[in-house]
Amino acid sequence: MSRKVTKAIFPVAGLGTRFLPATKSVPKEIMTLVDRPLVQYAIDEARAAGIKEFIFVTSRGKGALEDYFDHAPQLERELEAKGKDKLLKTLQDTNMDSGEIAYIRQHKALGLGHAIWCARRLIGNEPFAVMLPDDVIAADKPCLQQMVEAYEEVGGNMVAAMEVPADKASAYGILDVQEDMGSLVSVKGMVEKPAAGEAPSNLAVIGRYILSPQILQNLEDKQVGAGGEIQLTDAIAKQIGTEEGVYGFRFNGQRFDCGSKAGFLQATVSFGLSRDELRHDLEGYLHEVMSSRKAAQ
Ligand code: UTP
Repeated sequence: MSRKVTKAIFPVAGLGTRFLPATKSVPKEIMTLVDRPLVQYAIDEARAAGIKEFIFVTSRGKGALEDYFDHAPQLERELEAKGKDKLLKTLQDTNMDSGEIAYIRQHKALGLGHAIWCARRLIGNEPFAVMLPDDVIAADKPCLQQMVEAYEEVGGNMVAAMEVPADKASAYGILDVQEDMGSLVSVKGMVEKPAAGEAPSNLAVIGRYILSPQILQNLEDKQVGAGGEIQLTDAIAKQIGTEEGVYGFRFNGQRFDCGSKAGFLQATVSFGLSRDELRHDLEGYLHEVMSSRKAAQ
């Protein structure tokens, strides 16, 4: 099977309960980090990795997300008329070509594995990427691009992995490592959200995957796993010990969990500080806040 990855699935059908009440009407994925919705960071990362087809698994209430990808001809004309070329370019850079984006509905939030299975007919018999837009990764070389390069060498199934503190392991899928080869590890087991003290390592799976189409077959039996959900981790774990195998990939970069409030705030500060036009004011403000907090203690 070819190791060329040109399709990516973006599962965005979750309920986003950690951001209620905002997510009553605003899909989590279009919440804004500085001036761009989370989903734009994911699209840009996918494009840099060579993805040509963008498949969104959506649900009721995600209309604003689909609207975001529409072109805005009137706005473009106005910016052009006013000579606002930089803004016009920013806007046009977000335009998607007709036919490169597809939407599939997940009618019930039965879990991440189920969301991926919903896109099976658009994948066919080729490897594909999965990107969770609420995991935002700041990196010199975009994370998925790093993975695509490693995947071209080894094939199989690959999950992005990072070290987490032992007391946080029960929030993640955790890898049981067979062989540690540096940035790549081969995997002999995977446990979704292990109970306290039962994690096989401190290497956690985060929201970037390159998977073989066999995973879609594995999801056919709709096996319910941790939390009563159909888990992608379980379907991937079934490939351990097969000819394909499963690899963890330690990426270079900093991952922010923008699905949580603390992670979103950290990302806002960090991405704000990385912008030339914001750094000075933001640094000054942060310094002031920290000094007055210290003085009050
Ligand atoms: P999360 O575990 O973050 O769940 O899902 P969530 O519903 O988005 O948010 P909370 O926990 O209620 O705050 C991880 C990813 O899987 C997708 C989500 O949209 C998110 O990108 N997902 C999850 C689905 O597409 N369908 C599901 O049934 C579950």
